[in-house]
Amino acid sequence: MKLQICKNPYIYTMFSDKTRKYRIADSKQEFLDQFGGENKVVEKFLFGEVIFVRENEQIYAFKNKCPHQGAKLNGCWLEEKKVVCPVHQYKFDVENGRGQGLYLENYPLKENEDGYYLLRTYFSWFGE
Ligand code: FES
Repeated sequence: MKLQICKNPYIYTMFSDKTRKYRIADSKQEFLDQFGGENKVVEKFLFGEVIFVRENEQIYAFKNKCPHQGAKLNGCWLEEKKVVCPVHQYKFDVENGRGQGLYLENYPLKENEDGYYLLRTYFSWFGE
C-alpha cells in the first residue's frame, strides 16, 4: 500500500509547529542586569514558569519543571554544558534538553535591534 502524503499547503500550515516570540528585555545586557548577584532568574509566562540560568555572559532558558518528577529547578546548577536538577541530580543538555531518556523543555534566546526575546516552539493543530 502506498502512503498518501497531503500536499495541500493550507492543511500543512494548519497542522504544524509554531514559534512564538516573547519579548523579555530591551537588550541582552539589560536582561543580564536583572540577575544581580545571582545566576538564576524565574519568570512567569502564559504557558508556564521559565527559569533562566546564567553562566558568565551565556544565558539558558528552561521550563521550570523537571521532566523526571515535576520538581521546580530553582536550586539547579550547570555542570559541563548540562543543567542538573537539585532533587535527584538528573542532568539535561543545555542545548537540546535531552538527558536520562527524558526531555527538559528549553527555549532559545535571541537578541535583535528591537529587543531580547525568548522563542517557544510548540505543536499546533489549528494554526494558533
Ligand atoms: S525531580 Fe528532577 S531529577 Fe528527579
